[in-house]
Amino acid sequence: MPVIVITGASSGIGEALALRLAAPGTTLHLVARRRERLEALEERLRAKGAPPRLHVADVRDPDALEKVAQTVLDEGPPPDLLIANAGIRGEGDGNGREAMEEILGTNVLGVLNTVLPFLPAMRAARKGQIAVVGSLAGYRGLPEAGAYCASKAALMAWTDSLRLSLAPDGIALSLVNPGFVTTEMTRRNPYPMPFVISADEAAARILRGIERKAPRIEFPGPMVMMVRLLAILPPSLSDRLLRLAKREGH
Ligand SMILES: NC(=O)c1ccc[n+]([C@@H]2O[C@H](COP(=O)([O-])OP(=O)(O)OC[C@H]3O[C@@H](n4cnc5c(N)ncnc54)[C@H](OP(=O)(O)O)[C@@H]3O)[C@@H](O)[C@H]2O)c1
Repeated sequence: MPVIVITGASSGIGEALALRLAAPGTTLHLVARRRERLEALEERLRAKGAPPRLHVADVRDPDALEKVAQTVLDEGPPPDLLIANAGIRGEGDGNGREAMEEILGTNVLGVLNTVLPFLPAMRAARKGQIAVVGSLAGYRGLPEAGAYCASKAALMAWTDSLRLSLAPDGIALSLVNPGFVTTEMTRRNPYPMPFVISADEAAARILRGIERKAPRIEFPGPMVMMVRLLAILPPSLSDRLLRLAKREGH
């Protein structure tokens, strides 16, 4: 009887993961702020024989997430799978203070608020798996997206470290770094999105990686190669390539 917790389940990748994971006997705990969206998903999951538990909560609020964890743990065993997926890209100046506060507050502290309250119970049970959704944008600062890239870079370092400390307790941790995925986040992107995939395809790839307990789940391949190359090139060269790509895109 698997217990699975997903944040950011009201749309996009989180919703697609919930739909793929729904099966009779599986308890899905879904977290997001938009109640109506969660309720619409609830209907679809019920039809698949997996009525979910809904938690309307803001991942930026540590008390609210503490309460979510307490509810989950009061109701049953610690999660077999915890997916910290909620995230934002932000609007406006992507390099300013407001963006840093808003985006790091959600994408970094929100992930901590999600994961940390479950750790004592998961450690005691010596089982379970955690997946944190980052982004390939974490490999290198991209034009006008400094805060978003910084948030995902922080998740790379934090999950690399946490994975080492969780391993002796038998808990696997995967960082998921997708490339472009068609969701509400990217729908209004004014620039081209190379190798873009659907949210359902992203969910399928994520679940294959989770199955393998892969430390990093990254896709699509050509985009992974591109960002890794950008990250190892000297900045004088990668800056030039990015400026060129930006000019071509507009
Ligand atoms: N789409 C892409 O191309 C792409 C690429 C790489 C990585 N990612 C990452 O994938 C994850 C999911 O994004 P998506 O593309 O599926 O976008 P999305 O459709 O906009 O979904 C974002 C989800 O996060 C939730 N969320 C945002 N802020 C929240 C908060 N403060 N508290 C609780 N929930 C919150 C939203 O729910 P509510 O608004 O209802 O709260 C929504 O369910 C993000 O971490 C994103 O950075 C996306």
